[in-house]
Amino acid sequence: MEHQLIVVLDFGGQYSHLIARRVRDLNVYCEVKPYTTPPETLRALHPAGIILTGGPNSVYDPQSPKCDKALLALGVPVLGICYGAQLIAFLAGGTVSSAAKGEYGRVTLGVQAPAGPLFAGVASGQTCWMSHTDCISQTPQGFAVTAQTDNCPIAAMEDPRRKLYAVQFHPEVQHTVFGNALLGNFLQSICGCVGDWQMRGYVEQTIAQLKEKIGGRKVICALSGGVDSTVAAVMVHKAIGKQLTCIFVDHGLLRKNEGDQVEEICRKTFDMTFVRVNAQKEFLGLLAGVTDPEQKRKIIGETFIRVFERESQKIGKVGFLVQGTIYPDVIESGVGNSAMIKSHHNVGALPDVVDFDEIIEPLRMLFKDEVRRAGLELGIAPELVWRQPFPGPGLGVRILEPITPERIALLQEADAIFREEIAAAGLEREISQYFAVLTNCRSVGVMGDFRTYDATIALRAVTTSDFMTAEFVPLPYDVLSKVSSRIVNEVPGVNRVVYDITAKPPGTIEWE
Ligand code: XMP
Repeated sequence: MEHQLIVVLDFGGQYSHLIARRVRDLNVYCEVKPYTTPPETLRALHPAGIILTGGPNSVYDPQSPKCDKALLALGVPVLGICYGAQLIAFLAGGTVSSAAKGEYGRVTLGVQAPAGPLFAGVASGQTCWMSHTDCISQTPQGFAVTAQTDNCPIAAMEDPRRKLYAVQFHPEVQHTVFGNALLGNFLQSICGCVGDWQMRGYVEQTIAQLKEKIGGRKVICALSGGVDSTVAAVMVHKAIGKQLTCIFVDHGLLRKNEGDQVEEICRKTFDMTFVRVNAQKEFLGLLAGVTDPEQKRKIIGETFIRVFERESQKIGKVGFLVQGTIYPDVIESGVGNSAMIKSHHNVGALPDVVDFDEIIEPLRMLFKDEVRRAGLELGIAPELVWRQPFPGPGLGVRILEPITPERIALLQEADAIFREEIAAAGLEREISQYFAVLTNCRSVGVMGDFRTYDATIALRAVTTSDFMTAEFVPLPYDVLSKVSSRIVNEVPGVNRVVYDITAKPPGTIEWE
């Protein structure tokens, strides 16, 4: 079944992806496209509506991103947000000026009465989120002003005849209290969306498509135990069962018991053809004596590929390689924010070494939280579905000295205690990533009547939306205190625990 589509045209705003997520949360399927997408291409997609995002530029800057004016004449409803609103004004013949006073943050919005369909049910005097210097100073012909603030007389305008709508504020940001209602109005009343895009249907549809596409061929998947590769593997498994072989390379640098958990889920819960390669010794041998983090990464990445290649050759020629690529990895904005793309993908080099015809990426169109919802639909345990991100090189980049089996065991214990206490305090879902680091600092301590000279464990807990910037979490002192005393008492070789209170930037999330 084809779903109605909303296209979000990305002009480089920091909330572009958030708009797409909000639309999908309202059960309407939505894709982000570069602002350069030609109107004919858009028309061919038969979108129910188009949303123009914000962006950091001024429409009068000749270099600023602009779409073709023909977009406004497609007959498809258009909603411009912030820069997108100014662009509608500019393209339709209105005026945009630099405001005497910009607006940043929470602002009270006055809605003109009687409200049209976009503002239906939105009371005047509510808070919206603004972030702009420029503003629309004169509406284009055919447009009426529908909302204003103290410093922005044209905070919203519309031409219902041409189905063009513009709002200076950001409805996609949580601080705009009526934001979801307004987006819902745009989707339902203006674009005529019925809101039938649901994860269950999507999962079933994808499984059916995979079945048809794969036919009787063999499929291979590199499973890391992370959310994305597990959900991708389970989805493919539901489609073709034993034609799929999952290869799990255990490099020995996983968290405590993690390798066994991954195996248990794949073998017992899903009855997959699952190959666990216990390559711990091979990895450790090559990592012996290495302290430089980049060299560790290189060794781990290359060894991973070699081990995987060796295993995959045992299967012979395969039709498809499954990868857990997700939507944020594939969105091409065309506004030069490619710096966002991580360079960490340690299975990136796999396509070169495995003999296969095609890659399949069943999660290619899903955001991370949607991958989790899909995982739950597929019956994957919530503990796994909510697992926090874990770097490919694992504990290898959290041990600041050369890696040895003893240091791995020590860090696994300390990290497990930290995770247990975070779970006991009910903080798991509030923190994006948290872990222990075995530092290279030794210090003097006293335990009983003895002087010790032992290792220091650092704890790190951050919140972040995109892992490009992050804040440290102000963990409650009682939680920190319990973790500290448990680690020092229960993990031999550790006599000091410190908490990392650095933001990113200037710090990074990992220590190495
Ligand atoms: P940093 O330390 O750069 O980390 O602030 C940002 C996010 O990326 C993860 N990370 C990695 N993931 N291979 C990976 O697969 C790596 O080499 C790697 N290094 C960092 C990190 O855990 C955080 O989520």
